[in-house]
Amino acid sequence: MLDAAEIDRLRAEFTGTLSRVTGADDLRAVRDRYLARKGGVIADLMKAVAAAPPAERPALGRLANALKNDIEAGLSLRRAAVEAARPVADAVDVTLPGRPVLIGHRHPMAIVREQIETILLRMGYEIIDGPEAEDEYHTFEALNIPPEHPARDMQDTLYLAAPMPQSWIPPAGTAADRPVPPARPATLLRTHTSSMQIRHMETHRPPIRIIAPGRVFRRDNPDLTHSPMFQQIEGLVVGEGITMGDLKGTLVAVIREMFRPDTRVMFRPSFFPYTEPSADVFMGCAACGGAGCAMCKRTGWIEVLGCGMVHPAVFEAVGYDAERYTGFAFGIGVERIAILKHAVDDIRLFYDNDLRFLEQFRD
Ligand code: DAH
Repeated sequence: MLDAAEIDRLRAEFTGTLSRVTGADDLRAVRDRYLARKGGVIADLMKAVAAAPPAERPALGRLANALKNDIEAGLSLRRAAVEAARPVADAVDVTLPGRPVLIGHRHPMAIVREQIETILLRMGYEIIDGPEAEDEYHTFEALNIPPEHPARDMQDTLYLAAPMPQSWIPPAGTAADRPVPPARPATLLRTHTSSMQIRHMETHRPPIRIIAPGRVFRRDNPDLTHSPMFQQIEGLVVGEGITMGDLKGTLVAVIREMFRPDTRVMFRPSFFPYTEPSADVFMGCAACGGAGCAMCKRTGWIEVLGCGMVHPAVFEAVGYDAERYTGFAFGIGVERIAILKHAVDDIRLFYDNDLRFLEQFRD
């Protein structure tokens, strides 16, 4: 039942609500709630007045009208206050610090690869680039890697189009009616950048001084030290009178530039089909200073690359005069250098794309 007390209660409720208004949106909501033509508090009140007993109607009508006027006045006062408090035209506050713009940065592998490239560029090397999808000729054959070499096994090489299995046995019958196996040139993902030695020599004459950085692929399951894709930088120098002394001087200089000027470097005889003599190159372990630790497997030495004097068979494959020219080649594992430089303990970190890792490398 509508009475004067109910109208007083509505007034008190409005006053309380208005006092909690903080902005233009709030204010609009309060206005709608009280003054909306349909369902507004005042509209409902007027309906209740009309429904009141005729004797009470004039008095209740006066009270209801007074409340409506007070609400309108209260809202307009409040609107003025809210507008006055708003910053001029919602202007940009030029005294606030700017929002930092997030710019990208290079991948740690790109940074390390470029550091190595820069050292070699300064020594006069030229950077060349070539295919990741290769054939057996450039990856193996021309590099003096025989067909029975384990590297050519499907266990180690990722073939894109399978070669004829080596175990293929011709069906019985006379030679004449035996079916000729279809020639299927194998396409594979290069297992090393050494294929670029052949590609470059096929199209250039000595003197040659190139590096070929790039991705290589092997059929390995990822673990702490293996990734089915990793990066190498191949180097090749060919000319007249190039000696093992040039090879050693160059690689010692590169390693000392890459790490510290006093880094110890060791050449240990090794074997690669495309070099003779061949060597594995080690540097003194920076983690323990050569005393022996987990990083260098207690040997004090860490292997950083393979190298050697270009095998005459390789020169013959590309039509170079092996009597006239000599040369050296090397292959650097880029992840290996990055791991050593930055004490990274898991090669997979370079390829997991976790920003918490990648963002630690900015230059
Ligand atoms: N191709 C070798 C590898 O993938 C690295 C290598 C060793 C490259 C000796 C060379 C070299 O050019 O002379 O492990």
